[in-house]
Amino acid sequence: MTTTAAASLAFPDDRLAWFTQARFGMFIHWGLYALLGRGEWVMSREAIPVQEYRLLADRFDAADYDPHAWAALARDAGMRYMVLTAKHHEGFCLWDSSVCAFNAVNSAGRRDLLAEYVDAARQVGLKVGLYYSLGDWHNPDWAAGWAGDTAAEHRFVQYTHALVDELMTRYGRIDVLWYDLPQCYSALQWRSVELNAKVRARQPHILINNRAMTTEDFATPEQHIKASRAGRPWEACMTLNQHWGYCPSDQRYKSAGEVAQTLASVAAGGGNLLLNVGPDPAGRIPPQSRQILRQVRQWLQRHGPAIFDTTPHRMPWYLFGPTTVSGRSLFCHLANYHGPQTTIGGLTNRVLAATLLTTGQPIAFTQRGRQLFLHGLPDQPPSDVLTVVQLQLDTPPGSDLGRVLGGADVFAQLPD
Ligand code: GLC
Repeated sequence: MTTTAAASLAFPDDRLAWFTQARFGMFIHWGLYALLGRGEWVMSREAIPVQEYRLLADRFDAADYDPHAWAALARDAGMRYMVLTAKHHEGFCLWDSSVCAFNAVNSAGRRDLLAEYVDAARQVGLKVGLYYSLGDWHNPDWAAGWAGDTAAEHRFVQYTHALVDELMTRYGRIDVLWYDLPQCYSALQWRSVELNAKVRARQPHILINNRAMTTEDFATPEQHIKASRAGRPWEACMTLNQHWGYCPSDQRYKSAGEVAQTLASVAAGGGNLLLNVGPDPAGRIPPQSRQILRQVRQWLQRHGPAIFDTTPHRMPWYLFGPTTVSGRSLFCHLANYHGPQTTIGGLTNRVLAATLLTTGQPIAFTQRGRQLFLHGLPDQPPSDVLTVVQLQLDTPPGSDLGRVLGGADVFAQLPD
């Protein structure tokens, strides 16, 4: 076989390699809705007439927009990629579009906000993702097509293909295309297969999500974790408070500990966490979000090996907290910290060493049958985010812990 033939055979895996190792990315919901501060669905939920909503563009000045600060925050938090809402359901395009006049250059800011984002992400080595909502509350053809006006539907699908083509041709290499809100039309109506073939012709390495009524490269469980079977890549997207778009009255933020546990659960299933922030109308990521991401960053500085470079496994994570695996290491995330004596049940491997990853201290242990007793852990959890114990095993851990539940296989029981 020639080198070229070998390379082209290896292509699909190479294309997915970074994504299946990434574990952590930043989702950014930013658009005119930030001005109202009641989430990205505000236009629809409050039935704001299009003519009234359009006026928001005259106030969208992006005065404190600094995508370099976003990118630095993401990179420092251990994230490997970013996905920005190029166009959300409101229909406003963050880029200098020739197809849609309702765009950032025609708004108060008079800048191509997308171009700046793409450059900033690339500069710090993050992969660049673009979210594109197929739905559109601003263009009347979308709803008219849905209601059965086929001429409107055709116009709208043309419009969609033209906008996606702009995104795929004007901003250099794009690593992820993240569609949303396809439901009103079928794949046939969207001409999704043709659309994605054009996208892939422009961006051969790109990864496309499963939200244009086609399967494509990865699954997108939303606000929950669900590992895909058969090695299909997946990414759980989640909010940091209860909203995607800016909503200052919503203070129900996840703690850094919850984020760390989520990361561990995602790593256990070989997936990624795309964690959302909703910048304010000026472009600032809320201080609460920044604070949580800084705490996660500090936690990852010590606990990174328990998340990155781990491999998926089938052990249930609800016994004492999520577990992650790397070679012969089993990382036990002590979501419930029980103090000096901690027992881990169900392990049939021989434990060669136990370390408190959080401090680097060795832990005394004894093993009896399927019980592992850890002795002399600190009274109080040594991490205020999430304490992790690393067990060095004689062989790579199998699905031993599953046997505690009589061989239960959480993945096998769930429908895809
Ligand atoms: C939900 C929200 C939508 C958001 C998306 C992200 O579907 O309705 O606004 O963009 O989640 O996955």
